[in-house]
Amino acid sequence: MAAPWRGVIAEYADRLPFEPEEHAITLLEGGTPLIEAPALSEATGAEVYVKVEGANPTGSFKDRGMTTAISKVVSNGSQAVVCASTGNTSASAAAYAARAGLRCIVALPVGKIAAGKLAQAIVHGAELVQVDGNFDDCLRLARALAHAYPVSLVNSVNPYRLQGQKTAAFEIVDALGCAPDIHALPVGNAGNISAYWMGYSEYAGMTTAASLDHPSARRGAVVSTRPRMWGFQAEGAAPFVKDAVVENPETIATAIRIGNPASWAYATAARDDSGGLIDAVSDADILDAQALLASEVGVFVEPASAASVAGVLKKARAGQVPSGALIVCTVTGNGLKDTATALGERELDPTTVPAELEPAAALLGLA
Ligand code: F0G
Repeated sequence: MAAPWRGVIAEYADRLPFEPEEHAITLLEGGTPLIEAPALSEATGAEVYVKVEGANPTGSFKDRGMTTAISKVVSNGSQAVVCASTGNTSASAAAYAARAGLRCIVALPVGKIAAGKLAQAIVHGAELVQVDGNFDDCLRLARALAHAYPVSLVNSVNPYRLQGQKTAAFEIVDALGCAPDIHALPVGNAGNISAYWMGYSEYAGMTTAASLDHPSARRGAVVSTRPRMWGFQAEGAAPFVKDAVVENPETIATAIRIGNPASWAYATAARDDSGGLIDAVSDADILDAQALLASEVGVFVEPASAASVAGVLKKARAGQVPSGALIVCTVTGNGLKDTATALGERELDPTTVPAELEPAAALLGLA
C-alpha cells in the first residue's frame, strides 16, 4: 500500500523554502484527484483531465498556499494574520489559523461572499470585517493593516502562498509522467496561474519571474517540457483581456470578481513565456460548464472553478484546441460552497409520496 499523504510541505520538502526543523501547520492538503473527463475530451477532441482542488481540506486550492504561509507566520513568531478575500482565502486562512492558534482577521466585500465560505470563516473563529467596496478595496485595506500593525498578510502577495500553490503542478507531472500540452485555470487575483507556471518551470529546471523573487526555493530537472498556460477570466471582471484595471468588476463567479489583480506582472509573464493566453468567458458559459461538470463528469465545482472548462470549450468551438492535446483544467473550489448559484431557479421541493413501492414506482415511471 502507498504511504499515506503527508501534506504538501512534507511531500515536496526538497522543493520548498522550509528547513527540516520548521514545524508545518498542515491539514494534509494536496494530493487531490486528477480525473479523466471523457465528456470534455469528446467535446474538444483533446484528452482532458480535471484537477479537483475542491477536494482539499477547506474545499479549495488555497489550502496549498495557506499551509506554507501560516507555517512561516508561526516560524516567525507572529500572533495574528490578515487577508482580503472573495471567500476561499478567508475560509482557508481561518482554518489554518485556528489550527495554529493564531488570531485571523478577514476583510470581505459586503454582500458578495458565497454562504458556504462565509460560514467557514465564522465557524473557524475568524474576525470578519465587511468592507463597503470590492475585493480590490479589501486587499488595499488588508495590506495597510499589515503594514501598520503586527499582523501578517496571508494573501497571495505573501511569497510563501505561491510556493505552496506551485505543488499542484508537481502533482500533475508526477501523475501524468509528463507536463500537459495545455494547462487551463480560472484567473482572479492571478496568483494561481503564476504559481502553476513556477511549479512547471521548476520541474523543467527553469526559473520564472515569480521564482526569481524567492531564491531560497530549491530546484531540479524532472521533465523537459512545460505547458501553455491558458487563463480564463469572467467577462465582467477581465482586466487582463482589457489590459486595464476594471473599476467595478461584476460576475456571478464571485470568487474571481477582481478588477486589479495583485500578481499582474507574474501572470502576464506566465502567459507570454508559455506561449499561452488569457481570455474571458461569459457568466452563461461558466454556468453551462459548471452544469456539464456536475452532470457528465461527476464533479460539483463552484462557478469560478468552471471558468477553466468554459474557456477550453470556448476555444474548442473556435477550432483553437489542437487535436489530441493533453489538457489539464484546474477546478479550483468545491460546489458545496455556493449551492444557491448552482441551483438557480431549479425546483427544490420534489413531489412527496408515501414510503410505498407502488406510488413511488408510478411517480418515477418505473411501473
Ligand atoms: N477559483 C476560486 C474558487 C477562487 O477562490 C479564486 C480566488 C480563483 C479561482 C482565482 O485564483 O486569485 O489565484 O487568480 N480567490 C481569492 C479568494 C481571490 O479571496 O478566495 P487567483
